[in-house]
Amino acid sequence: MKNILVTGGAGFIGCNFVRYMLDKYPDYRIVVYDKLTYAGRLENLQDVAQAHPHRYHFVQGDICDAAQVEETIREHDIDTIVNFAAESHVDRSILEPDAFIRTDVYGTYVLLEAARKFGNLRYHQISTDEVYGHIEGDHSSVETDNLAPRSPYAASKASGDHLVNAYHITYGLPVTITRGANNVGPYQYPEKVVPLFVTNALNDMPLPVYGDGQQMRDYQYVVDHCEGIDLVLHQGQLGEAYNIGTGQEITNLEMVEILLDELEKPRSLIQHVEDRQGHDRRYSLNVDKIRALGWEPAHTCEEAIRKTVRWYVENRWWWEPIRQGEFQEYYQRVYGQRKILS
Ligand code: NAD
Ligand code: TYD
Repeated sequence: MKNILVTGGAGFIGCNFVRYMLDKYPDYRIVVYDKLTYAGRLENLQDVAQAHPHRYHFVQGDICDAAQVEETIREHDIDTIVNFAAESHVDRSILEPDAFIRTDVYGTYVLLEAARKFGNLRYHQISTDEVYGHIEGDHSSVETDNLAPRSPYAASKASGDHLVNAYHITYGLPVTITRGANNVGPYQYPEKVVPLFVTNALNDMPLPVYGDGQQMRDYQYVVDHCEGIDLVLHQGQLGEAYNIGTGQEITNLEMVEILLDELEKPRSLIQHVEDRQGHDRRYSLNVDKIRALGWEPAHTCEEAIRKTVRWYVENRWWWEPIRQGEFQEYYQRVYGQRKILS
């Protein structure tokens, strides 16, 4: 493994992964291939470009464009593809699913075909706990569970997973999949719940909690997730999927309280609003399989949230301009007419 194509590397998790890998492996080269949608930003990688001018290269491109994907693989002698590129926000998938099907399904197919054409390149797919759907009772999802996605986003990601498995079984493509729980950390676009709520609170705006706020999520620190991906990339068994998360769960209201406490802001900012359509009440990952490879998360959910809050407090240069752009229109669409419950 020397020349890695990181698709979607200008997004939240991708940029943290690129930084982590270039620091850890001095002989690796990384080519980021990214369409730069609203969620992809070159600022996310500006320090990387400065620190590693010879080992980092950026290409603006769409993973649905087979010709450009192939040209990039050829030009940079790529031996490994790690696919982060996706439309990634459930609320946007409810408004407009089209781009999700295009990128998360068709785009995954294009990358798999390219990997096959170039002599079965090593391929790693970044997936999500949402492919298992809402989890009942005291069950925690194991990697062999059936996929039961319930939102257009989750369904498009599950389709990607099925394609990856099919390419392994049919063509022998050397693949692995990781299914991560909710990530938090630096450079997350402020439409996702934690950065949205931190930045709203810093502006003394209400925090729109969907429904009763009793939904359960596992909030993990993005760098812990990146370490898990690195481990699976190097030591995972080909053809296998691995869950990555803290293995803990907290309610959204607990998350909000931690966040407000860290900011020293009042609980009166909490505003219950009309629930998300088809909202999954609970995700829960069993993470024994990646633990057996020797991985442990360095942060609990609470530590991950507190550390993330501090990053947003200290990095207004990054999120203030974002909140003034396309974000405003999106915010109006999702929250403008939303019923306030309390
Ligand atoms: P993000 O939305 O911040 O970043 C996605 C990146 O993909 C952006 O840089 C965007 O420009 C790029 N992209 C989108 N469409 C593209 C296309 N057609 N061609 C090339 N690039 C394209 O998302 P993220 O939160 O960093 O998520 C990265 C991956 O991790 C996704 O596959 C997502 O499903 C998965 N994931 C995310 C979480 C989470 O909590 N954020 C949890 C588990 C898994
Ligand atoms: P999100 O960050 O969108 O991740 P996902 O839905 O993929 O897990 O949301 C995390 C949780 O926070 C989810 O239960 C929905 C909830 N949420 C709110 O209560 N209010 C909001 O404004 C948003 C964006 C999310």
